[in-house]
Amino acid sequence: MSRRKHHVPWTAAGTASEQQHSVDDVVRETGWVFNNRTGEALDLAAFVETGNHETLAYLTAFGLAGPQLAQQTLVEIGSGIGRMTASFTKMFDKVIACDLDAAFLERCRETVAQFGAPERLQTSPVGDGRSLDIEAGTADLSFCYITLQHCHHGDALALVREAVRVTRPGGHVALNFRTWTAADAVLWPAGKVVRGLWRLPVIGPVVARRRIAARLGWQANRLAPAEVLGALGAAITDVGIVRSPKRPPFRLPGVTETSFVGVHRSHWWLVATVV
Ligand SMILES: C[S@@+](CC[C@H](N)C(=O)[O-])C[C@H]1O[C@@H](n2cnc3c(N)ncnc32)[C@H](O)[C@@H]1O
Repeated sequence: MSRRKHHVPWTAAGTASEQQHSVDDVVRETGWVFNNRTGEALDLAAFVETGNHETLAYLTAFGLAGPQLAQQTLVEIGSGIGRMTASFTKMFDKVIACDLDAAFLERCRETVAQFGAPERLQTSPVGDGRSLDIEAGTADLSFCYITLQHCHHGDALALVREAVRVTRPGGHVALNFRTWTAADAVLWPAGKVVRGLWRLPVIGPVVARRRIAARLGWQANRLAPAEVLGALGAAITDVGIVRSPKRPPFRLPGVTETSFVGVHRSHWWLVATVV
């Protein structure tokens, strides 16, 4: 059993997902942990449709879309139950979906079986929350969305280095981060309190499944561009940052900065070539 408090809501949601009969039920019960949508009318088809839209929008915005993908391997870090993975399997020759929670990866297989290309999917559990069980240089693209903000700070940086390690020289990384905003004056301490509650016997597992509490407890990690770029040093080149048009530029030397309306104002993406 993992000792990281940060893993509690994911394993709680993963266990809840195991107890559902169908993936439609999983989406109704735990789908909110992936895209914050709730309601009895939800089903897997609508859930995957949100992923279909986002995969194409992001890859296009990052200049990474195109027919070459059909010959390429993608590593997706934090795939969850396959909201985006189904779409990726229809674009790439091979997709390696990685997640902390093995139950999510089981559901990811079901999602891809229904809505993607299951013969192109491989799954890989991230047992310690910080290392990928994948050979160096395997991927043409390593992709990570709304995951690094939920990890322990050191684990997030370790996963960033892992994303670069598993990507071939000349391949790309597209990694999503959340950075500091004014709202963190409230969110940050509240998150610490909730993560403390997750540790309590009996109460902890109950709190971990409550939407509002879980969302506060997720406020686990913020990474600003300078810290991530400092951690990667010369391992990447052609470094680009993609941010929301609603936020001020980061203005880092030697970094190309663009904005895209699909990026949340507290988020930013690192899009870079691996050396
Ligand atoms: C908000 S969900 C996003 C899932 C997916 N990217 C999407 O957009 O639907 C975050 C995912 O990251 C996974 N996760 C959290 N911490 C992780 C870690 N340290 N290593 C690997 N996966 C992790 C969770 O289990 C969860 O599936």
